[in-house]
Amino acid sequence: MSAGTADRRGAGGRGAAAAGAHPDGGAPRPEPLLRAHAVRKAYGPTAALDGADLTIRAGEVVAVMGPSGSGKSTLLHCLAGIVTPDSGEVRYRGQELSAMSDGERSALRRTDFGFVFQFGQLVPELTCLENVAMPMRLGGVRRRTAERKAAEWLERLEVADVSGKRPGEVSGGQGQRVAVARALVDDPRVVFADEPTGALDSLNGERVMRLLTDAAHDTGAAVVLVTHEPRVAAYSDREIVVRDGKSRDMERVS
Ligand SMILES: Nc1ncnc2c1ncn2[C@@H]1O[C@H](COP(=O)(O)OP(=O)(O)OP(=O)(O)O)[C@@H](O)[C@H]1O
Ligand SMILES: [Mg+2]
Repeated sequence: MSAGTADRRGAGGRGAAAAGAHPDGGAPRPEPLLRAHAVRKAYGPTAALDGADLTIRAGEVVAVMGPSGSGKSTLLHCLAGIVTPDSGEVRYRGQELSAMSDGERSALRRTDFGFVFQFGQLVPELTCLENVAMPMRLGGVRRRTAERKAAEWLERLEVADVSGKRPGEVSGGQGQRVAVARALVDDPRVVFADEPTGALDSLNGERVMRLLTDAAHDTGAAVVLVTHEPRVAAYSDREIVVRDGKSRDMERVS
């Protein structure tokens, strides 16, 4: 089902070798792509993160689990350079995010990261096709080229039939698949997904997870997946548990 895009990494010159991390072809433990170390973030008296550590390697799907209020979203926002930690560091490909300017961080988010949130966060005035094409349009890609690639991704996510509709006219599951297409369309190295199936029933949730993880594995994108649901986390390669702002690797029982 993924033949059309399986070679995107190589074609785009963005493979593991281009990352300078390790030679392509067979290194069993690729270099960390993203690394959070001793990250602390407080909101007033609340310690949202209290010394969180996390390493994400290229191409792996990591589930971040933990109770409500434990700091999962804050950790994801710190990893994505949306929130700046009070102390500790986050490095993306060796470069410390807090040492970058705001402009550099937003450019990085646009070129290297994709995002999926609980309610899709699609632009309501645009059609689903235009929503998926948007990241490429913002990057200066011509409309025809962007829309052709967007159409391929909608087909791949099994929602080609909604391409001309606006987000308000599609179901929750369809909308999330459109959001996944938008997150993956511009060849990100990391997809950040915060409760991407939180508003879906379990059947649709599993379908979205299968499509997201298949596409990520095929394109080589890493996925940081925040979820409460063990069934959703089961799609990951590795699970991290966040409790009281501290994170810990949980050995996968499988
Ligand atoms: N912008 C903010 N302003 C004030 N407090 C915040 C802010 N963001 C998060 N917090 C607090 O920090 C703590 C961690 O929040 P966070 O959103 O990271 O939790 P979470 O694990 O994602 O929870 P949930 O599963 O409910 O989404 C909570 O106590 C929350 O109230
Ligand atoms: Mg959250």
